Amino acid sequence: MDFMDLVHNRRSIRRYLPREVEDWKLKALGEAFRLAPSARNGQHWKLYLVRNPELRAKLRQATTSQPDMLAQAPVIVVAAGLPAPEMACGQSTNTVDLAIACSFVMLEAEELGLGFCWMGSFYAEEVRQALNLPPEQRIVAIAPLGYAAEQPEPRSRLAAEDVVTYL
Ligand SMILES: Cc1cc2nc3c(=O)[nH]c(=O)nc-3n(C[C@H](O)[C@H](O)[C@H](O)COP(=O)(O)O)c2cc1C
Repeated sequence: MDFMDLVHNRRSIRRYLPREVEDWKLKALGEAFRLAPSARNGQHWKLYLVRNPELRAKLRQATTSQPDMLAQAPVIVVAAGLPAPEMACGQSTNTVDLAIACSFVMLEAEELGLGFCWMGSFYAEEVRQALNLPPEQRIVAIAPLGYAAEQPEPRSRLAAEDVVTYL
């Protein structure tokens, strides 16, 4: 699919079919993550594609308000940062690197016909404990992943002139 078609068509998906995601698709998502750019090419990151039902049940408890969304999805994506030097610009290397890499995963999911919903409403420490990850790993994003059971309408965006300035 053309890149801008992916961008136009993608929606956050919050309802999922009880259908497994094929292994080759999970592998493609891992490649999209692995090949993303990162500050100084540091690659201070880990991606977990959680299919294990017991672990998914634990992850559901780690959300602040939306356990149902995670309960339906056959896969939960968890992205974690490893200790990394901060960037000169003052932004968090982990936050920026993982946002880029997870965006690659999100768009590859769209290309593969899979739904995805970025989630910021989770308790990072509880997610870390649920997966028994080492204390130095910092959870940046989680997302349900699977075949969509809904087709949401596009959500509104600000007009180009409100957000893009040509100087
Ligand atoms: C950083 C980030 C955090 C988000 N957290 C949540 C969340 O916790 N729960 C949720 O339902 N959607 C969450 N979303 C999805 C946004 O609500 C969604 O992207 C936005 O409403 C635009 O809709 P669209 O993705 O379908 O275009 C998050 C999106 C981003 C980028």
